[in-house]
Amino acid sequence: MKNTVQVGLIGFGTVGSGLAEVLLSQQHRLAKRTGMTIRLAKVADINIDSLPPQFSDVSLTRDAAELIDDPGIDIVVELIGGIEPAKTFVMQAIAAGKHVVTANKALLSQEGRDIFTAAAEKGVEVGFEASVGGGIPVIKSLREGLVANRILAITGIMNGTANYILTRMTDEGIPFAAVLKDAQEQGFAEADPTYDVEGIDTAHKLAILMTMAYGMHITHNEIPTEGISRVEPVDIEFAREFGCRIKLLAISRNHGDSVEAHIHPTMVPESHLLAKIDGAFNAIHFTGDMVGNVLFYGLGAGKMPTGSAVAADVVDIARNIRAGSVGRVPPLSYLPREIGDRRITPLDELCCPYYFRISARDEPGVLAAIAGILSHHGISIESVIQKGRRESVPVSIVMRTHSARESAVKGALAEIDTLEVVTEPTVKIRFLDEEPC
Ligand code: HSE
Repeated sequence: MKNTVQVGLIGFGTVGSGLAEVLLSQQHRLAKRTGMTIRLAKVADINIDSLPPQFSDVSLTRDAAELIDDPGIDIVVELIGGIEPAKTFVMQAIAAGKHVVTANKALLSQEGRDIFTAAAEKGVEVGFEASVGGGIPVIKSLREGLVANRILAITGIMNGTANYILTRMTDEGIPFAAVLKDAQEQGFAEADPTYDVEGIDTAHKLAILMTMAYGMHITHNEIPTEGISRVEPVDIEFAREFGCRIKLLAISRNHGDSVEAHIHPTMVPESHLLAKIDGAFNAIHFTGDMVGNVLFYGLGAGKMPTGSAVAADVVDIARNIRAGSVGRVPPLSYLPREIGDRRITPLDELCCPYYFRISARDEPGVLAAIAGILSHHGISIESVIQKGRRESVPVSIVMRTHSARESAVKGALAEIDTLEVVTEPTVKIRFLDEEPC
């Protein structure tokens, strides 16, 4: 019976060094829990010349092939991120018969089909717990804890950076650009924040969850995605008046023959649990047909939380190696042959209540003209707010509609924005609707 499992790590950045620290500091606990020594044996990284002194027994190389081709390495952990050379390293490791662990959501959401197919053919495991929700054990929970459920919906805050920025905008009333700049200076946001603030990172994560939840092929670029960079403090203020907070949500619903998936700033009622998720925290909510509603909450990023999630995959694989049960649990929950194509509902078919902020000159008949256009498109108004009266500057006319189709909303706003009295493009934000039409 195998007593030692050797790990090769590609990428000694924030998460890689976190994994190394977790494996070292928890070595005795992991031995008590697995009956094995799980040992970080080799690190490959082109950006460092030495490892910290506590890792003096770990060898360091600049060449990933040195650990991929090392017959003593059982598990290759890829933590460099991005598509290439990460995909090449992962495919080479699989071809060499190594089990693979990765935190790389961009890679899995774009190239996952090739990777999981190759791994199944080779009979090796792929662990990816850290790819969604950082330290939150959401992947294993979905795959195993919720295995007896048809997943009906996934709703979540899956990006800590965006949630941190929205929380500060909400609490301090300051604009997006100022919070982002401050977050970057303090190291809470990347120098290039595009993936985080434009919802792309969230789309990567939702695509992975949808594949597992519904047994379907989907890549992140099939998910309509809108980020938070155009959210303004005034919209956050009006959200309060409607009893809501604005959150960047990933929303997906399983309609049987089709599935819904979209990511955008969303008006979330203050009473909803997701409205209470603040700062850099993530929360992922599943609805299962047997279990009902389940919420996972925790840190979606960071060295030690993410290191903990990567280590959990390493331990799972180590246990399977020891028990001779590699392949017992399909990584995507469904057997590979059961994963198929499903129709993704076009955004135009989406139906939910909408928030509109229309900038218009304050003149008699303006509201009637706007209401007329909305009525013509079959959109019913639930409430209207117009603050103050100013002769010389445009005012904000803010509305909440009843549930309406996205296609009708687009048509109506295109007409409203051509009205001579309307001075800026209308802002629209979707409300979270638990029972869409
Ligand atoms: N950049 C991500 C976030 C963490 O801000 O949540 C890694 O997925």
